[in-house]
Amino acid sequence: PHSRDLAGVKVVVSAGPTREYLDPVRFISNPSSGKMGFAVAEEARDRGADVTLVTGPVNLPDPPGVDVVRIETALELRDAVLAAARDAQMVVMTAAVADYRAAERSDEKQAKVAGDVTIHLTPNPDILAELGRQKGDRVLVGFAMETHAGVERAALKAQRKNADFILLNYPTREGTAFGGDDNEVTLVRPDGTSEAWPRLSKREVARRLLDEAARVRQKAES
Ligand code: C5P
Repeated sequence: PHSRDLAGVKVVVSAGPTREYLDPVRFISNPSSGKMGFAVAEEARDRGADVTLVTGPVNLPDPPGVDVVRIETALELRDAVLAAARDAQMVVMTAAVADYRAAERSDEKQAKVAGDVTIHLTPNPDILAELGRQKGDRVLVGFAMETHAGVERAALKAQRKNADFILLNYPTREGTAFGGDDNEVTLVRPDGTSEAWPRLSKREVARRLLDEAARVRQKAES
């Protein structure tokens, strides 16, 4: 089902980490490399889609032929994804969004003090869930990283966020997920059905992800 099967389809992909600043020079983040999301964006582009890639800070160049929006914080990611998603038919959330941000971001560098400090964190909005609440006929795809009870938790997550499916990965498998060129994921649907895929390149995972998204779209149309 490849070649130009996504011609005329608008796809939004989020990638990479977010940075949640405590002050101008310090932030909370995670080691997401962005490779999975960039692979999805490139694969969708090669299949003819009109692609917007919203990415946090990563060491990857803009893929040619893709509309790239660079953001830093979860709130910026939210604005960019929601704006791009308005006229999109598929949204793939691979970004490793920080769950919390500083309740107050200082405009000045915080001086070191003697002893312990307490940082007050406040939850970030869940962008995938927000898209799920205004789903329309968009296909919504999420990722999840779990260390245990992965399939059940991912199925519940897909239900709760109203996603069509979630790709579950494990942070502990060597050479996969964070930073690696390969990924080993399990496709999990909200009805609890799942498919464990073998270890594959992130590009091949992207191919299968888009095959599944295209199937969901066809089913909804028929
Ligand atoms: O709940 P959890 O963070 O495990 O969900 C992961 C999925 O939800 C990913 O697809 C991620 O991009 C998305 N997400 C989001 N907004 C958040 C947190 C996660 O869209 N604030």
